[in-house]
Amino acid sequence: MENLNQTLMNRFILLGLTNIPYLQTLCVLIFLIIYIITLSANLLLILVVKMNTQLHTPMYLFLSNLSSIDIFFSSTIVPKIMANTLSRDKSISLLDCATQMFFSLALGSTECIILAVMAYDRYAAIYKPLHYNTIMNKRFCIRMVAGSWAMCFINSAIHVSLTFKLPFCKSNLINHFFCEMPPLFRLSCQDTHLNEVVMYISAAIIGVCSLILTLVSYVYIISPILKIHSTAGRHKAFSTCASHLTVVSIYYGTVLLMYMRPHSAYSPEVDKIVSIIYTTVTPMLNPIIYSIRNEHVKNAIRKNMNELFRGFIKRMSLGS
Ligand SMILES: *[C@@H]1O[C@H](CO)[C@@H](O)[C@H](O)[C@H]1NC(C)=O
Repeated sequence: MENLNQTLMNRFILLGLTNIPYLQTLCVLIFLIIYIITLSANLLLILVVKMNTQLHTPMYLFLSNLSSIDIFFSSTIVPKIMANTLSRDKSISLLDCATQMFFSLALGSTECIILAVMAYDRYAAIYKPLHYNTIMNKRFCIRMVAGSWAMCFINSAIHVSLTFKLPFCKSNLINHFFCEMPPLFRLSCQDTHLNEVVMYISAAIIGVCSLILTLVSYVYIISPILKIHSTAGRHKAFSTCASHLTVVSIYYGTVLLMYMRPHSAYSPEVDKIVSIIYTTVTPMLNPIIYSIRNEHVKNAIRKNMNELFRGFIKRMSLGS
């Protein structure tokens, strides 16, 4: 039996979200809708920022970076969930599993840092308006973005190699919907203590530091708003900040709940719900909350739509 298990471990079985057939159909439908909204909202934002030179400021360039991360991040996970739920064969090869883990972890942690950088950018814009252009100069922005990508990809490579060194011989059933570290650790018959410590350290460095930077920036952003005299102005500024703060808190909260939880507090059901939020809901909400509600972006979209429409009419009339 022992030997049989050892030889079977070249594939994992992803148990997925549920095994009740009608719920599976419903899940696939919901994920499909979420995925379509995620792709179109993020793509729209990237195009609008690209097409409008007045939006080529650090804030919108960071947002458009965030949108590209969101597109790739959800693409490493959502299509596989749908295929896995619909298919009878729920297996995934070790290589596919490692690839999925590598990209989702790298992109997910880059997103953490970019969210924090965006909060810092707003802080600088409000608190240091005169020095804003020197603080957020092009070189600094490119370095921040490139630095966080590089750091997160290296970090992810370390985790993937440490995780896939483990002997997975307890079972090959992953009670989760994609390949992520905590559920994988539970398949190891060797002590995963070292892996967990490394995971906690990197979650603390990337997650907690980004969270603190974000919260501190927002405290500074929100305190002058409270001093605005007009109620309407205060309300508007406050609601913008509150919606940003809500999506970032949900993101950091769920990620930290997943990666900072002690081994003893393990529950596959909680893991699944928590993971769904940061892998599918956040990438969909980010462009909607941060940009599509923003007046400058809305105006730019309107302008581009008008141009597109006029161009279309012109071509139609030339053609006839
Ligand atoms: C990401 O941000 C950098 C630095 O601000 C910018 O140069 C680059 O164009 C952005 N990339 C995208 C896809 O928006």
